[in-house]
Amino acid sequence: MSVRNLIDLNQLSLEELDEIVDMACRISKHPEHYASACRDKLMATLFYEPSTRTQMSFQSAMLRVGGKIIGFDNPGGTSVAKGESLKDTVTVLSGYTDILTIRHPLEGAAMAASLYSHVPVINAGDGGHLHPTQTLTDIVTLRNVVGRMDHLVIGMCGDLANGRTVHSLCRSMSRYGGNSFVFISTETLAMPKYIKEYVTAMGCEYTEVRTLEEAMPYLDVLYMTRIQRERFETPAEYEAQKGVYVLDAAKMALGKPDLCVLHPLPRVDEIAYEVDDDPRAWYFRQTLYGMYGRMALIIRMISEHESRTPTVRTASPGFTCHNPKCITRFEPYLPPLTVDTPSGCVCAYCERGQAE
Ligand code: NCD
Repeated sequence: MSVRNLIDLNQLSLEELDEIVDMACRISKHPEHYASACRDKLMATLFYEPSTRTQMSFQSAMLRVGGKIIGFDNPGGTSVAKGESLKDTVTVLSGYTDILTIRHPLEGAAMAASLYSHVPVINAGDGGHLHPTQTLTDIVTLRNVVGRMDHLVIGMCGDLANGRTVHSLCRSMSRYGGNSFVFISTETLAMPKYIKEYVTAMGCEYTEVRTLEEAMPYLDVLYMTRIQRERFETPAEYEAQKGVYVLDAAKMALGKPDLCVLHPLPRVDEIAYEVDDDPRAWYFRQTLYGMYGRMALIIRMISEHESRTPTVRTASPGFTCHNPKCITRFEPYLPPLTVDTPSGCVCAYCERGQAE
């Protein structure tokens, strides 16, 4: 694998991604063959934000490949509560372990951690930015359920503004030929401009609609998401958006017979419980594919890792990120770094920093 950290799934070539997905499929058939692949290796899970699935999926994946885990999911019980910086926590914990996973409420936190880590860093979700291992989960599921990754009409519904899962998925699925997207959201929850520009730059088409009903008949895949209450500035703003989209049996009746319904979970109210028994509802089985995907990823990253000194990046003097949710606004020692994207030159941590 040419990258040693996984901040964005698109750091992998399609061939590398395919190899990991193939391996996940092999693991799902014969997990016993991989039971000691990472024996004596230690993973740190640094969860600065609540998580059920991602955290436990990483933990069970590491344990199932023979490794061990340490970590926290309540930073209030660690030195973070005393004001320790991300840099210091990562520097120390990466000295104890062989691989590090991090979830953080700020955009770009995983990239920031990778600058100071002595071991590979996996982004387990950085604010509303990216969530590459959820996308790996989604891709392993699509490979098994739909059987192909290209020429799909993919609907994404709900909080497209703040949902990191849909941002990551959109970017990855735009790499496969002939895919198109239907973004189903209110105006407030619309897909960010930088993701739409990425999709267009990759040669894919997208449409934006306001109701599930108008999209349903055309979709091969429907990716439902919850409205991300914790990412709104005020409770009133959340209240104005909550409960707008509910997938129920009546709407499922408008869908294709082989529609694949996915959801990263947790569900709040956007999928009625009656849909769970529909054979086209794959969201619970999707979680299992995620564990196999993470087992494959961990094996690859640990086996290819050679000990090293942290990445040195050249600072981009004079650049200040304007995204109020970017990690650089809170951890002032971080060097200003930029990257060129279809949206122009942006902050390398959160890929924003310019007026939307
Ligand atoms: C998602 C997340 O944390 O971004 N959950 C997950 O990782 N499975 C989706 C969400 O919280 O809505």
